[in-house]
Amino acid sequence: MEQYIIKGGQPLKGEVSIGGAKNAALGILAAAIMTDETVTIENVPDVRDVRVMLQAIEGIGAKVKYVYNNTVQINGKSISDVRVDGEYVKRIRASYYLIGALLGKYKKAEVALPGGCNIGTRPIDQHKKGFEALGADVRIEYGMIKASASRLKGRHIYLDVVSVGATINIMMAAAMAEGKTIIENAAKEPHIVDVSNFLNAMGANIKGAGTDVIRITGVPRLHGTTYSIIPDQIEAGTFMFAAAATGGDVMIKDVIPKHLEALTAKLVEIGCDVEEFDDAVRVIGKKNLKSTNIKTLPYPGFPTDMQPQMAVVLATARGTSVITESIFENRFKYVDELVRMGGNIKVEGNVAIIDGVERLTGASVCAPDLRAGAALVIAGLVADGYTQIEDIYYIQRGYEAFDKKLQSLGARIETVDSDKEIQKFKMQVC
Ligand code: UD1
Repeated sequence: MEQYIIKGGQPLKGEVSIGGAKNAALGILAAAIMTDETVTIENVPDVRDVRVMLQAIEGIGAKVKYVYNNTVQINGKSISDVRVDGEYVKRIRASYYLIGALLGKYKKAEVALPGGCNIGTRPIDQHKKGFEALGADVRIEYGMIKASASRLKGRHIYLDVVSVGATINIMMAAAMAEGKTIIENAAKEPHIVDVSNFLNAMGANIKGAGTDVIRITGVPRLHGTTYSIIPDQIEAGTFMFAAAATGGDVMIKDVIPKHLEALTAKLVEIGCDVEEFDDAVRVIGKKNLKSTNIKTLPYPGFPTDMQPQMAVVLATARGTSVITESIFENRFKYVDELVRMGGNIKVEGNVAIIDGVERLTGASVCAPDLRAGAALVIAGLVADGYTQIEDIYYIQRGYEAFDKKLQSLGARIETVDSDKEIQKFKMQVC
């Protein structure tokens, strides 16, 4: 099994370019099947979750063509099946976007219940509520979500919890419903705006994405378009925090600085320098970073997907920091691993209390999920000595060429598959 080996202690320096947003891509790729015309999507990140989504789309008969690196063409005319099944589909949570897309276009969808990262209970009641409000019959049986309707009719839908997935899913189905839909208490994440912009580029009529009230006037059909996905705010944030934690100096390019404001604010608060440019941010880490408190919240609050990486930054900051996880209840699984690396962290319910230590030390650890895995990589870059990270397929779900990008910043990290390769790495970096 592939793993990362890291020799820590090297401040990251240089420039790194950020790819397209995985979470936007998953929604956009699903939405691309809603027209019979060809859709060209640029800046598609080449990560495992995206490949699974493309496999699922091909699996129901759509044509998928990689034009060149990171550009994909999809044509949904040849779709012959509204049943999305198979082991691979259960591996990504976002396979549920195919319900909204298929239901909108064909008024029928059957999709295997989603998997994804095990970061806590992840109900889909709000998705179901939205589809039912539009007039669909929605059942969960035999491990599948089955939705069908003779016609979809626009409605006023109030979400009980702010859900990214439900907002996007309902938006897609409503884009091809009859009449007007209003989604209240909608999520406001940048990728919701991106999916909405994409649907509008295909001829949909969606207004208000990025605010908590989204108004959709259904259209009978959508058409082909060419669209470029926004930069990945979480990949960008991960490099920002890696720069901060290692005391480095990194220019993170091809980003939208506005999407990173919650992260920038925290880095400045703990003592880093952050410079903003039109499409880049430069993070300069400092010695003796200060402690702080974080509470994860829906956008524009501090993102839950950056919580583990922030914990690593704070693990060696001066003083005591408190992190409150308010979105997912099982997102502290990396803490045991960080403690093995010398971190002083206690978890009580949805709160982690971090007492900053002088240094972390390398150890053999396992990535428990995607973002926690990325956080452990940052910990390895900070730690004295060697860190081996197993289960890196989680990390590969959401980061394109993570090891290569870190290497370009001077990190000593390698993907290895055998003891021999580990020994070779140790010989090279010692
Ligand atoms: C998306 C992101 C994920 C991110 C999360 C929060 C994708 C593919 N994944 O996940 O990386 O961590 O947003 O920013 O975009 N909830 C319900 N009922 C529902 C749906 C959600 O109670 O029907 C709850 C969840 O349990 C959670 C909260 O709402 O506590 C937010 O979840 P949601 O925004 O839906 O997350 P995802 O879309 O699954």
